[in-house]
Amino acid sequence: MPAKIAAMDWDALQQAVAGCQACGLCQSRKHTVFGVGDRQARWLVVGEAPGENEDIQGEPFVGQAGQLLDNMLKAIGLNRQGTGTQGVYIANVLKCRPPANRNPQPEEVLQCEPYLRRQVALLQPQIILALGRFAAQSLLQHSVPGVATMPLGKLRGQVHSYEGVPVIVSYHPSYLLRTPQDKARTWADLCLAMDVMRAGGPV
Ligand code: URA
Repeated sequence: MPAKIAAMDWDALQQAVAGCQACGLCQSRKHTVFGVGDRQARWLVVGEAPGENEDIQGEPFVGQAGQLLDNMLKAIGLNRQGTGTQGVYIANVLKCRPPANRNPQPEEVLQCEPYLRRQVALLQPQIILALGRFAAQSLLQHSVPGVATMPLGKLRGQVHSYEGVPVIVSYHPSYLLRTPQDKARTWADLCLAMDVMRAGGPV
């Protein structure tokens, strides 16, 4: 199946996700949550997994954490309806909601990984913003030894790489809702990401 997924175009991929039964989450989901935004965006934001609101609406980051994410993106001139220099694509590691918002399980991440990998290949973003532990672990598992046990704080402030695309790690918006004092650090991460963009291509 991963080989098939790796050859899909956007529409085929979205359909494959919609009908996916690769793990047990398909039994409890209301909707799959594929991703949203400009499919030619230079920025890709990767979160963890759909929550209750996302499961109902089929769109990532539509709850309270999503409002905060939208504000973070606005601060750097991006929005989920934007195109061109304002464009961003938003996706999650898992495309289905874990019941009661429990943490994603390794088997679920493993089964879902080819979808995100293909999204990255199709999008060809110039930068990836990995929000939270699960996004960081999933994207950096092959490039950062020991990432599975590394605190998020240790992964921040550096430019990592996924499939040749620069990756900046920052806090998850849900965490920031509980820990607003870390918003300043998040702003520093966004500034680093903007620096990388400026250095890497036309702004
Ligand atoms: N948290 C996430 O990581 N993703 C969503 O889509 C919503 C909340």
